[in-house]
Amino acid sequence: MAFPASFIDELIARNPIEDVVGQYVELKRSGSNLFGLCPFHGEKTASFSVAPDKQIYYCFGCHKGGGALNFIMEIESLSYPDAVRHLARKSGMDVPEDESYRSQYKQQERLWALSKDAARYFRQQLTGPAGRQALEYIVSRGLSRQTVTQFGLGFAPDGWSGLLDAMLAKGYRREELLDAGLAIRSEQKGSVYDRFRNRLMFPIIDIRGNVIGFGGRVMDDSKPKYLNSPETLIFNKRKNLFAMNIAKKSKLECIILTEGYMDAIALHQYGFDCAVASLGTALTPEHANLLSKYTKQVVLIYDADEAGQNATRRAVPILEKAGLQVKILRLQGAKDPDEFLKKFGADRFKLLLERSENHAEYRLQNLTRKYDLTLDEQRVEFLKEAAQMISTLPNAIEREIYGARAAKAAGTTPEALKIEVDKAYRRRVSRENRAKERIALSPAVREQPAVRSIHYNNLRSAMAEEGLLRMLLREPTLFDKVSPLTAEQFSAPLLGKAFSLLQSRHFDGLQVSLAGLGEEFSPEELGHLTQVAQKRDELISDEAFADYRRIILNEAAKARLQSGEDLLALRDRLKQQKGYGG
Ligand code: UTP
Ligand code: MN
Repeated sequence: MAFPASFIDELIARNPIEDVVGQYVELKRSGSNLFGLCPFHGEKTASFSVAPDKQIYYCFGCHKGGGALNFIMEIESLSYPDAVRHLARKSGMDVPEDESYRSQYKQQERLWALSKDAARYFRQQLTGPAGRQALEYIVSRGLSRQTVTQFGLGFAPDGWSGLLDAMLAKGYRREELLDAGLAIRSEQKGSVYDRFRNRLMFPIIDIRGNVIGFGGRVMDDSKPKYLNSPETLIFNKRKNLFAMNIAKKSKLECIILTEGYMDAIALHQYGFDCAVASLGTALTPEHANLLSKYTKQVVLIYDADEAGQNATRRAVPILEKAGLQVKILRLQGAKDPDEFLKKFGADRFKLLLERSENHAEYRLQNLTRKYDLTLDEQRVEFLKEAAQMISTLPNAIEREIYGARAAKAAGTTPEALKIEVDKAYRRRVSRENRAKERIALSPAVREQPAVRSIHYNNLRSAMAEEGLLRMLLREPTLFDKVSPLTAEQFSAPLLGKAFSLLQSRHFDGLQVSLAGLGEEFSPEELGHLTQVAQKRDELISDEAFADYRRIILNEAAKARLQSGEDLLALRDRLKQQKGYGG
């Protein structure tokens, strides 16, 4: 482990989970636990809980859970060591840095510093003599001086080593420019030269304000139009969004997601300071997660062309999965938001924004386009599909509104359509109820972990293992009584691993709590373990403890016997085969 366990324990002890979470979530006490709205998925009723006695949090809605460090990792999008540093800084503790971490962190810090200096250099070039043409281009694109300053736009001069020379003079090394993606090494000659040449530069800044990369635009029609930084130690396109550092502070209710740097920038200039852009990649679940930390509602405005519409279709489920409400704003009379604002102005845009379609409307519109509604046959098909779609809306008023709209589109009465919708709705509800009953009838299914990647093969043993872990977490002295039970006898590898880690913590005189194990498990695994710890409060008695221990030992013996019998059978078969052969 990178940091000494005793240090992590001290850190956790100085940062009670209720205080750490309390900085981000309004918590209300109910019994021995605290509850609030989950910061990791959109919700209206509190299913997010904090257990001060166990020093863990757990969301019953999205199954995220863990200790204070995991919470910081999740909410601040930090790696484990960075979460440790973050909490340590807040509580005034010195971090005993492991050598490899220290060197990686140092390298990161160097690249951040270098990227920041590079941005400064590009900015200076823009206002210097070399930048005249670039400034003209900026003016021709209608960007104000204030916008240029706010986004730190710059200019990479024509030539092969402008940035390189300037940064070498500041004490950076060639290797570092290569590592930051700012320079390229030529394959034949081995020489190193600037990646960005004669381009307008857009710095990409992460949510903590570090410059992590650049987009560079040509100022004519040459290709590629944009050149972006490659993936580096500090730049990950899948996790970052352009302008998120500004949009996260916006007072507006939503975040507007666009395709292009220029779209996001134009929106900001016209007062929509909640706009962001993806970085020349399709939207990822990581992007959606990032967005969900700052808003409940995303307005998608992709380009009006087919590629943009396809991207919209793919983005919606990703955003919805992160618990976000999605609205789609369709532009008419302009190819993208930048052009729209210039042609029609901010007020028209504001109107569009207020009226922007929610997802149901979007799907309905797509349906009306899919069918030729002048033909009877197609109208029938349309009505069937529309009724099906509308029946999935959870809210009766919505069903009525969209039902009426679909009916109008197909030239039929709202009543006729309503009958179809109700039918489809009832079919669905009864199907879902049947499924629910099936699940309720089989406790085996109910007790399985919510995360599909974790599965209990021996449920009887796993339930005992869960119970035993719960008791040990509440009463670590019970570790002195577990013998002859060992981790190998656990049927669920995840529970066995938790058991052995907690056991060695106990013997090392460390705190026996899941909060200290943040680094050892994946977020899914930790989510499941915290759920196990939260499931119920185990009444501690020597008898109950012995029962659990006995069940686990028995089931393990059975499993051994089974595989042992298989071995015996195999040996017999092999013997027989040999007999035939010889
Ligand atoms: P667009 O071509 O729509 O660019 O590409 P834009 O942002 O609207 O720029 P202007 O208005 O033409 O100046 C959308 C996004 O796709 C990525 C960039 O992130 C761009 O902002 N892209 C586009 C590239 O990465 N490389 C390219 O060559 C083109
Ligand atoms: Mn565009």
